[in-house]
Amino acid sequence: MEKMRSIGLALGAVALFAMAAPAMSQGNDLSVGRKMLVEDNPGDLWIDIGKELFYQKRGPKKASLEQCDFGLGAGKLEGAAARMPRYFADTDRVEDLESRLLTCMTRLQGFDRKGLVKQAISRPRSKGSDIEALALYITSRSNGMKVNVTLSHQKEYDMYKAGEYLFYRRSGQTDFGCVQCHGEPDKRIRLQDLINMTSKAGAQEVASTWPAYRGAHYVVRTMQWRLNDCVWQMRLPDLEYGTDYSIALTTFLNHRGNDAVMQVPGFKR
Ligand code: HEC
Repeated sequence: MEKMRSIGLALGAVALFAMAAPAMSQGNDLSVGRKMLVEDNPGDLWIDIGKELFYQKRGPKKASLEQCDFGLGAGKLEGAAARMPRYFADTDRVEDLESRLLTCMTRLQGFDRKGLVKQAISRPRSKGSDIEALALYITSRSNGMKVNVTLSHQKEYDMYKAGEYLFYRRSGQTDFGCVQCHGEPDKRIRLQDLINMTSKAGAQEVASTWPAYRGAHYVVRTMQWRLNDCVWQMRLPDLEYGTDYSIALTTFLNHRGNDAVMQVPGFKR
């Protein structure tokens, strides 16, 4: 379904890339419109849904998520998302917010991991998935705080380096790398501004605005969804939800986005 939407893009990534042209001056008008929308963001509605889900006793084990440690202690949400991805000793891996949610929803609540993954990314115009709402609620508890992804654990550092490598690496049948669409200022595909993530400001925008309300889908979208969509544009194999490829890229982008002030939900086209 999701892919149908992009049939226009199915011309092939090569053709797509050829269309990525320098932004014209109207680019600024688009950003003004976007800013106005942020002030009245429908995505706000999902914060309350996520909050309810967080405190409800759910799953086969009938537990809430209050015992979930997002890095600052069980149930401590203030500022937690601003420091993710990070290393967790109980799983001995670096997790982003969404993979951490999977960990807690399976371990504490007894949900089936496969089932969660299957539903994690909702359909356009739906009421959204539990994980989308939870990720937004938890991240919103960092609003106004600064992104602060540290690389103090060796595994965090390794994740960062892997993300850096993946960001610049070209791969797949079209020989595409993230950097080709996101490595220069003022690039565009059609009317979409492509954020230059090699700049501090670009990385900061990414690190501080997800989950975001996506106007074209009428739902809240998460970083996992965003990366999945870009990977599809690159004609790479589907990105498996919550796996290291995405966590590495998120670690890379968020660390470089440090010191941005969190403000979610963002509002995206
Ligand atoms: C073929 C071009 C293309 C490639 C290659 C590509 N993307 Fe994207 N990316 C896009 C488009 C188009 C958007 C959406 C822009 C919009 O909606 O305004 C986007 C948006 C994003 C965003 C959200 C930016 C924001 O608004 O906060 C992130 C993060 C991102 N891409 C990461 C990546 C990563 C990481 C890779 C490599 C795995 C990648 N992209 C590869 C085209 C690309």
